[in-house]
Amino acid sequence: MVKNLIPYQSARRIGGQGHIWLNANELEESESYGESVRYNRYPDFLPHVIEQAYLEYTQQQNLDGAALSGKLLAVRGADEGIDLLIRTFCQPGQDQIIVCPPTYAMYEFCADSIAVRTRKIPLAEDFSLDVAAILPHLSESKLLFLCSPNNPTGNVIPQAQMIALLEAAKDSTLVVVDEAYIEFAPESSVISLMAQYPHLIVIRTLSKAFGLASIRVGFLLADTSVMGYVKRLIPPYPIADPSALIAKKALLPEGLRAMHEQTETLIRVRDAFAAAVAALSFVEKVYPSSTNFVLVKFNTDDCLYEYLLQKGIVTRNQAHDPRLNRCVRISIGTESSMLETLQALKDYPFNTMNQATA
Ligand SMILES: Cc1ncc(COP(=O)(O)O)c(C=O)c1O
Repeated sequence: MVKNLIPYQSARRIGGQGHIWLNANELEESESYGESVRYNRYPDFLPHVIEQAYLEYTQQQNLDGAALSGKLLAVRGADEGIDLLIRTFCQPGQDQIIVCPPTYAMYEFCADSIAVRTRKIPLAEDFSLDVAAILPHLSESKLLFLCSPNNPTGNVIPQAQMIALLEAAKDSTLVVVDEAYIEFAPESSVISLMAQYPHLIVIRTLSKAFGLASIRVGFLLADTSVMGYVKRLIPPYPIADPSALIAKKALLPEGLRAMHEQTETLIRVRDAFAAAVAALSFVEKVYPSSTNFVLVKFNTDDCLYEYLLQKGIVTRNQAHDPRLNRCVRISIGTESSMLETLQALKDYPFNTMNQATA
């Protein structure tokens, strides 16, 4: 279907040279609403400022920014990227994707929304990827979604497993690696494998380590052969100008310095919180995390999510997933928020009568 789709030719995409722009039914003059910039013009298809800044950012990660030119697309958050990939490469009622739960729920949701089947290959007991169980299903699947670091388990997928899957998927399946949390474990990124594996797609976002969830900016990184199809489906003006300007600032050296400092602080706060929580008698386990959250398993049948909620602390209950029974996912906030959360947990009236029965 997408093969025959002619991309919508927005005025910005067609472009042109001139000093009077009368091609997009915009107002030439508009109210400024107290802002120094005006918003009367449609934004660029791929805002140049973002592209430039992101390519420089990848250079900071010791990657060849030049080699990624033309392989980058800004989207309205990683979520739009996921949706776009499924709509681009899967036929409703016919095709299938693979996901490895427990993982981010949007892959399955987006597939469901257009009647694309989801084949679930659960993670192993220790939340590692079950590569052997994935292999037989590759040839019948259009996309394999991998999340590294994974939400909600917090672990990364080792490069050796990534390479094994990329090799096996060569002739059949696009491998999508969601790196939403990559700034918390940059050494585990697979971006450098893109040159070798044109069927590898990487998803990134400014919502997590950059702390910019409300501007809705994410990125797809893919080979030009893959990107050509995605660009047929992307809406005409994906990124609003105010978001592009903030994204640009965040990706400049000063913004990156701030992000790195915040990330270091967050990791310190996370590790201290995780260690203190792990020491509590009603905690079975705090899973190792390469992200800005921790997954905590309690050894009591009481719902600690509800208990924390009563204290005004909102966490994410994972009990809907049988594999994550008695688990709560706790995002890492400021040091004072985490101290308050820790104190609330310490105050939990636990005695051995509460102990889990299973
Ligand atoms: C693994 C993963 N991917 C993507 C997203 C969505 O990111 P965005 O805000 O860029 O849409 C999230 C948000 O929680 C996530 O956990």
